[in-house]
Amino acid sequence: MSNVVSKNSAINVVNLEKSVTTQEGSLTILKGINLDVKQGESVAILGPSGSGKSTLLGLLAALDTPTAGEIWLDGEALSPLNEEQKAALRKQKVSFIFQSFMLVDTLTALENVMLPAELAGVKNAKEKAEAMLGRVGLSHRLTHLPKQLSGGEQQRVAIARAFICEPKVLFADEPTGNLDSVNGHKIADMLFELNQENHTTLILVTHDLQLAKRCQRQLVMDNGHLQENEHPNALQSNSACESNSITASAKEA
Ligand SMILES: Nc1ncnc2c1ncn2[C@@H]1O[C@H](COP(=O)(O)OP(=O)(O)OP(=O)(O)O)[C@@H](O)[C@H]1O
Ligand SMILES: [Mg+2]
Repeated sequence: MSNVVSKNSAINVVNLEKSVTTQEGSLTILKGINLDVKQGESVAILGPSGSGKSTLLGLLAALDTPTAGEIWLDGEALSPLNEEQKAALRKQKVSFIFQSFMLVDTLTALENVMLPAELAGVKNAKEKAEAMLGRVGLSHRLTHLPKQLSGGEQQRVAIARAFICEPKVLFADEPTGNLDSVNGHKIADMLFELNQENHTTLILVTHDLQLAKRCQRQLVMDNGHLQENEHPNALQSNSACESNSITASAKEA
């Protein structure tokens, strides 16, 4: 496989596959995925629950290892890297907002947000973390532990933590999934400000069609296959099956 990848690609993926072993045998979650995302692009990944969106995000962010294929993150191939090198690459280039937040239980909101900045040796980590928590509307919750915060508040702490190091690529798995519409809009505005001001590449997994339509590109995951959707206005939420059944009706059109 060629190691040459376009210089302005934030993410390049060739023939990516992911299988896991289950009690029932081998399960192939991702099937022959190809993808090229330019630096500074905003990309939404839609698709039904269980179709493989979080699995793909984890692989792209070098948090997981593919079964086959290659991923280049900011021009660097991931497969030759050991765990330590992958951790260093993540620290340097990537932030991740997890579907399950992944806050450190024993640290306060402020300490959770400060942590990546301190690890990266950022000066004034505390002041920056306070300012970032202010931007997500949590100045009054600095000393609360995660268990003392609501789901939406925990999500906003996770967002503040992801923003503090001004990543090159921001991966967000359902970043507005636990938020009311006012906070959801505010967080979406912050995501696109980061994208426009810092040229941060955004890869968002979302069931929120309004958020998806604000992205430059919409991709649809369907049973481990990823397809570009060229007709964002035709994306529809199937109300009969709740919010997690986003269908790309344009695909059939
Ligand atoms: N380590 C694993 N072992 C077994 N099955 C797994 C593993 N990881 C993921 N899966 C399965 O792979 C499928 C895809 O999971 P994934 O979390 O990527 O879905 P998703 O598209 O993010 O769904 P949702 O919208 O509900 O978050 C699911 O059916 C899940 O049960
Ligand atoms: Mg998921």
